Formats: sequence, structure tokens, C-alpha cells
Amino acid sequence: MPNLNPAYAKLAGSYLFSEVARRVKKHKAEHPEDEVISLGIGDVSQPLAPAVIEALHTAVDEMADPATFRGYGPEQGYAFLREAILAHDFAPRGISITADEIFISDGAKSDVGNFQEMFGPDTVVALTDPVYPVYEDSNAMAGRTGDYADRRWSNIVYLPCTAENGFEPALPSRRPDFIYLCCPNNPTGTMISRSGLEKWVEYARANGSIILFDAAYEVFIRDDAALHSIYEIPGADEVAVEFRSLSKTAGFTGLRCAYLVVPRKIRAVTPDGAELNLHDMWLRRQSTKYNGCPYIVQRAAEAVFTEPGRTQIMKAVAIYRANAAMMLEEFRSLGLQAFGGENSPYIWLKTPDGMKSWDFFDRLLEKGAVVCTPGVGFGLSGEGYVRFTAFASPENTRRALDRFKNIL
Ligand code: MLT
Repeated sequence: MPNLNPAYAKLAGSYLFSEVARRVKKHKAEHPEDEVISLGIGDVSQPLAPAVIEALHTAVDEMADPATFRGYGPEQGYAFLREAILAHDFAPRGISITADEIFISDGAKSDVGNFQEMFGPDTVVALTDPVYPVYEDSNAMAGRTGDYADRRWSNIVYLPCTAENGFEPALPSRRPDFIYLCCPNNPTGTMISRSGLEKWVEYARANGSIILFDAAYEVFIRDDAALHSIYEIPGADEVAVEFRSLSKTAGFTGLRCAYLVVPRKIRAVTPDGAELNLHDMWLRRQSTKYNGCPYIVQRAAEAVFTEPGRTQIMKAVAIYRANAAMMLEEFRSLGLQAFGGENSPYIWLKTPDGMKSWDFFDRLLEKGAVVCTPGVGFGLSGEGYVRFTAFASPENTRRALDRFKNIL
């Protein structure tokens, strides 16, 4: 038998959402009469926008005609999509990145999971706690996180985000090589303030660190003062890469399309001291391991950045925002502590009576057939919390809240 990669052998348990799915499957098998409502994994309920569907149909027809058929696409994604992203997401905010600094992919999960591959085995990673588990697990798979005990890796710098610090991570006492920041945050649904992000960019510039900025939930930002992109901060293009996704923005969780900005100014150093450009290295990595997001999906994505497409996707976003508002109001009227939900589709709820996260998850599933996500699954600081998503239909959100109330 071949030897397993020792880093994989150290991995703890299963991926968070696989464990949630396993418990839900078990419950359904034992209680086939239950109509389970999921407010667990952040999967959307609203269909794709008509402009997206139309673009898909057109692109499929192109693939049927020898004159317009497409095979392998450009490694970084088609220029039509990169230009549309630039014109829509970055140029209007005065951000001076270029289209060739944008990489199209099949999802932000793959991008955030893969990006760490470019860093050496001894590099130190900082993660907020709680955190989207992909950041932690992918670094553990790379073998740079040390030993695992009591839900902590010995070589990760954890930055607790709690109600006490307003869910804003403090600067680390030990210098990390790279830092993951997610804003609007998954799982807490909260924001890092403009001054908070400025502080991080300043820290990264002063310490030669790189920020991996996950802005997958940017479309949910409502606060006029909030930053939509880290590149709104001068100098961030020397130290930050930014992940964006159409999954929640435009209902692409099944279709799959995301984009990553790797500015040319970001540099890393080789073991013998030579400086390398991270952009070129990422292109090297992607062109070796990835053949790109399908043409028809990139055409569908392009439609998201048209006038009708934007209007249509914002209708779905409005539904999710209203769900979040409904949940916040209900939880707070029950005297519970609920966070997030204003600039994000996630509500971070303190469990009643100090219950542990998985105990509350089991109780809600058992007694109400409602699925949430246990906060401790996102990290130690998530113990005693659960996360609810606003992505269900309004009807199911209402029904889930009624069941929740009954259980309380
Ligand atoms: C979540 O529920 O945290 C997300 O949907 C998971 C993901 O995007 O991979």
C-alpha cells in the first residue's frame, strides 16, 4: 500500500458541511415524515436571473455551430468577462487594477483552497477564529500547520473574533506570512470597519505579509461607509489578493464561477533570496493544473454585469436581505443575541441557555427539523453559537422561525 501524505493523516474528522449533511441524512432516514428546512450551508434558493439564462442558451447554440464553437479557452478566462468585471466591480471605485490581474475560476472555494500552495512549508498563517473552514483545512493539507490538539493547530496564529471585540480581529503578536480576512464575514455575518482594514494593510506592508481577502459576500454590503474592495485602500495592491464569487451574488452555486485578483505588484521570495512575482506564479500554477471555467458559464457570468442582469440579481439579493432582517427581528424579539445579517446573508446567534453549538444543532434538528450550522465547527471561538443563512425561500425562512420559536 502507498504511504498517505502525513499531512492528510493528521486531518481532524470530516469537513464541517459534510458532517452537517451526514447528521441531516441520518435524521431524514429516522424521521421520513419530517419536512426538513435547511438554514445551514449557504446555498441559494432563487433561480438564475433571466439575463443569465438567455446568455446560457445563446452560448450553448454557439457551441453547436462549427463557426462559433469554442474549445480550450484562455487560461486566465475570456477577456470579455475580465473586462466586464473590471468595468463593474473595480473601475467605478477608482481602483486601478488591470484586466490581466483578474483570473476567472470555477469557484472561490477552489481559489482560497488552492492559493496557499504557492507558499513554502514553513510559512506561518493567521486565521480569524471563527473562520471559513477551507482556509484552515487547506493549510493543514499542505502540512504547514503543525500538530492538532484541542481543536487548534500549533502553527496557526489564531485571531479570535468575539462579541467582546466586535468581531474585529486584533493584529497578531507573532508575524504571519499570510493572513486570511473575510469581509463581509463568513460565518459571523459581521464587517471589518474601514479603519480596521486600513490597519491590516498597513500591518501587511510593514511586515512583508500578504492578505488573502475573501469578498465573496460583497454584494450584500449596505453600509455606505463600508469598503467593497480591499484595493480601495492605497497600497493594498502591493500586499493583497482578493477573492470574489458569483455563487451568492448571482445564484451560481451550481453553475460555478468566481474570480481572483492577483496584482502584479505582489512579490514573494524564493529560498535563495530571489524575488518572484506572485501573479506570474499563480498563472504558472493555474495553467498547469486548471483548464478554465467553461465558455458557456463565462458568458452567463458576463450577463451578471449587464444592466438587466444586475437589476435581476439584485431582486434575489433583496429577498435574502429581507430573510436576514426577518431572522434578526425574530431572534432579538425572543431576547436572543444575534449578530451580522445587515451587510451579509449570515446571522450569528448566541445559543439560548449557554447550550453548546452541536447540542443546539441536534436539538433544533430533532425537535424542529430545522438545520443550522454549529458555530464551533468554524473554530473554538464559535462554541456556544450557531449560524443561520438567509438563502432559503421567504416561506421556508418564516416556517423555520416559527418552529424555532416553538422549541424555545
Ligand atoms: C457556507 O455555507 O459557508 C458556504 O456556502 C460554503 C461555501 O461557499 O463553500
